[in-house]
Formats: sequence, C-alpha cells, structure tokens
Amino acid sequence: MNNTPETHIQILQVEHLCSAPTLEAMPQEGIPEVAFVGRSNVGKSSLFNRITGRKNLAHTSSVPGKTQSFHSYEVTARVNGEDHLLHLIDLPGFGYAKFSKKKREYISRLTVEYMSSREPLKGILLLNDIRRDPAEDELAIQALGFEYGIPVCIVATKADKVKRNDVKKRLKAIADKYHLQADDIIISGEKYQHDPVWQQILMLLG
Ligand code: GTP
Ligand code: MG
Repeated sequence: MNNTPETHIQILQVEHLCSAPTLEAMPQEGIPEVAFVGRSNVGKSSLFNRITGRKNLAHTSSVPGKTQSFHSYEVTARVNGEDHLLHLIDLPGFGYAKFSKKKREYISRLTVEYMSSREPLKGILLLNDIRRDPAEDELAIQALGFEYGIPVCIVATKADKVKRNDVKKRLKAIADKYHLQADDIIISGEKYQHDPVWQQILMLLG
C-alpha cells in the first residue's frame, strides 16, 4: 500500500493512559482503538514509538517478553487539518518460549478475550517478522479476526534486516500463508517510512 501524497499526518499529543493487566482494567470511555498484536520481540512497542515519534514511550527490549500487559495510549493526530482522537493498544507478545506454559496460555487467553469482546476495538495490526513465515499463532489471530468481524492487517516488521532484493520474495511467502496478496502487507522497519502504517490505522478507524 502506498502513501498518497495528499494525506498529511501530524501527531499533536501522545499520552500513556494505563498499563492494564486485565481487560476489565482498561479504559472504558469508548474512544476507537487499534491494537498492535504479534509474537514477542516482533517489534510492536518499537513500531508504536516510531509512528508516534516518541523514542522511548513504549518500553522495548532485545529480550522478548518486555510488554506484559495491555498498554493504552491516547493519541491526537491531525490528518489533513482535522483532529482525530484515538487509542493505540500495545499488547503483550505471544509465544515467548521462556515464559511458563501457564503464562503463555494466559497471554493467549487475554488476546482472544480482547478480540472477542472489546467494543472500541476497530482493527488489529498483526505484526509478522519479515524473516519468518507466520506460524499457527499468527494464523489463529487472523482467523479470530474473521470470526469476530475485526479487520486484521498484516505488518511485516524488521524489513531492514533483509536485503532489499529479498523483501518482495519474503512478502510473497508470508502473504501466501495468510491467503493474501503481497500488496496487502505493509512493510515496516527501522529505515522505512511509516506513513503507510498510519494510513492503515486511519482506514481501520473509518
Ligand atoms: P514484547 O514486548 O516482548 O512483546 O516485544 P515487542 O514486540 O514489543 O518488541 P520490541 O518493540 O520490544 O522490539 C524487540 C527488539 O527488536 C528490540 O531490540 C528492537 O530494537 C528490535 N526491533 C524492533 N523493530 C525493529 C526493526 O524494524 N528493525 C530492527 N532491525 N530491529 C527492530
Ligand atoms: Mg512490547
């Protein structure tokens, strides 16, 4: 997906609202929200920081398992002169082998519960490391999205870690597993322009 030149996005305000260990503890005002979901260490918190221009607001780590609860952020974005208030939610990553089985199951349960019952949730950005094909967990999130009517958009992260020439090939391989076209997948990475991520978020918010 390409950035259309006429869209101008300016982030006016970003605030960490809360770190909620359960769904019940999340803010209930009903501001529309988009969530970052994906395997532990895939780059959810880093992507949040990059697209909001806040270097260290969401804590990141080279060791998986850094984010362990729902982190809600309130964002005011000015899009083509119009202000939008939205929430971005950074979820704990699934699949970290060093977490106990109980903890892994708990995180999976939280994610399912969140997707099935969170009223303000308008869409999911499902992050997938560009170097890896999606596994059962990622495909399950996509299936849950279909089941609950929550749009799930795939973002291939860490694109700066593969050779430019290999990006297309990797996108095609990932897209095939999700039964999508390579063009459906958004590319993200440290050296990448992140406007397409914003375009997708705004689309999800309608
Ligand atoms: P959890 O909180 O454990 O679920 O992980 P997370 O998905 O939030 O990952 P996080 O943003 O903490 O990033 C994990 C590691 O990957 C950190 O060392 C980041 O610096 C690195 N990283 C994240 N995004 C990118 C990227 O686009 N390119 C490169 N090269 N490294 C990245
Ligand atoms: Mg994180």
